[in-house]
Amino acid sequence: MADRVYIFDTTLRDGEQAPGYSMNLQEKIQMARMLETLGVDIIEAGFAISSPGDFESVQAIARAVERPVVASLARALKKDIDAAWAAVKEARHPRIHVFLATSDLHLEYKLKLTREEALERVKENVSYARSLCGDIEFSLEDATRTDLDYMCQVVEAAIACGATTINLPDTVGYSTPDEIRGMVTYVKEHVPNIDQAVISMHCHNDLGLAVANTVAGVSAGARQVECTLCGIGERAGNAAMEEVVMLFKTRQDALPFETGIETREITKAARMLSTTTGVKINPSKAIVGANAFAHESGIHQHGMMANSRTYEIMTPESVGLGQTSLVLGKHSGQHAFSKKLVELGYKLPKEEEDRLFAEFKKTCDRKKNISDRDIVALVESTESAEDQIWSLESFVVNSGNHMDSTACIALRKGGKVYKDVAIGTGPVYASLRAVEKIIKHPFSLDDYFIQAVTEDRDALGEVQVRVSDQSGTYRGRGVSTDIIEASILSTLAAVNKMLSEKVSSLSQGQSANQMSFENDMLYEHTDKSGE
Ligand code: KIV
Ligand code: ZN
Repeated sequence: MADRVYIFDTTLRDGEQAPGYSMNLQEKIQMARMLETLGVDIIEAGFAISSPGDFESVQAIARAVERPVVASLARALKKDIDAAWAAVKEARHPRIHVFLATSDLHLEYKLKLTREEALERVKENVSYARSLCGDIEFSLEDATRTDLDYMCQVVEAAIACGATTINLPDTVGYSTPDEIRGMVTYVKEHVPNIDQAVISMHCHNDLGLAVANTVAGVSAGARQVECTLCGIGERAGNAAMEEVVMLFKTRQDALPFETGIETREITKAARMLSTTTGVKINPSKAIVGANAFAHESGIHQHGMMANSRTYEIMTPESVGLGQTSLVLGKHSGQHAFSKKLVELGYKLPKEEEDRLFAEFKKTCDRKKNISDRDIVALVESTESAEDQIWSLESFVVNSGNHMDSTACIALRKGGKVYKDVAIGTGPVYASLRAVEKIIKHPFSLDDYFIQAVTEDRDALGEVQVRVSDQSGTYRGRGVSTDIIEASILSTLAAVNKMLSEKVSSLSQGQSANQMSFENDMLYEHTDKSGE
């Protein structure tokens, strides 16, 4: 029988720490729920002491999920452990994850501790953490560059003081699989109480070996793997969960290990991460990239038609990439639409589904063939009703190569319609200016990305924007056959998030690159109720 390996997901901690992957509270809760559905065993929800926001999100996740263990990271310091415990204690299964670097390099230059002092600190803090919580993980940061005999001393002490999981991270992604295997074997052979703890691997990908090293650790005896969706994380990232999990599933002959992951949820989880953070998945990314199951060359296509096993080592269905069994179009009713959503892995509340169905019908009027990718784009760009402060009522844009662009926009808020007009060097610029004038809240456009959802001429255009004001950065996504409409919708989605966070400081401290409309109010702002 295959040995069970526990999946410790650190997308919301190590992953979220990486530039470009920050998420707000609601996004983190939604992601944590997705991880629960995916079947991860442990969710590392954050680093509670690091900021009030992190504390709040660890606590909210601890309350929001039921089955997985919820962990918070803590340095080997009493105040960190107190914060971690305060944040996770309401979880059904709480864990405190204490860490301290143990390599001479880190001890001497970063911590300025001798080996003996560090060992004392481990004993003191692991014992303290264990006095609060029954589930304690201890990580020896930079384990792979730590002297092996000292490592064994620290591991033995941590277990004696109550650690139930021992993590041996390759913090800087420096090791090779053989070295990892050697390290885990050495610890198993030289730590007398090692059978009282689960050994965990946490490998970074600086040399592209994170998954190989993680799996090497498992073959040597580790039974917990620390990983992230799509391999996000500090620098080059962590081991990608979907790769580790599918490797075990696909190569049972060589790696007889099993996990609790419902692999058919993988694609959806990866898409959710991408949608939430606005970071695209590399098309060549193993398991979840757009090309992972695409067969372009004639030889490959021929082989696939003869027998899919010629070029496919796992099926797209096994990772939740559904075959298009049900084709939707203009005449499809809500029942078929609901069925399609389920087929694509979405379970939405009734009101949200109704709103989406209305969007779908509008799209059918403009686009002949509606593919699964179109539906995914629609689902992932639709804001929930409570987030929608401003919605688009109508727009008219004029644009040409020898003129400035003008945009006349009408937005709806709380049953009233507000209109304004703006000019700009291009239609998107003019539209966003008009939006800014209506909502009376300056924002800067930090990033704008557009792509076609499918290859056809009448493809939906998907726009992703990142906007910011003094209080933070917000992402939005919009989809339409009209790219100006998609641009306005994506901006409204981001702006609605911004406004729902009750930002009060309007124009003070406006940065130089913020679009300022104060000097060129060419048209008076007109509030026209009920129009
Ligand atoms: O990479 C690392 O060593 C870590 C520890 C804090 C577990 O992220
Ligand atoms: Zn790490």
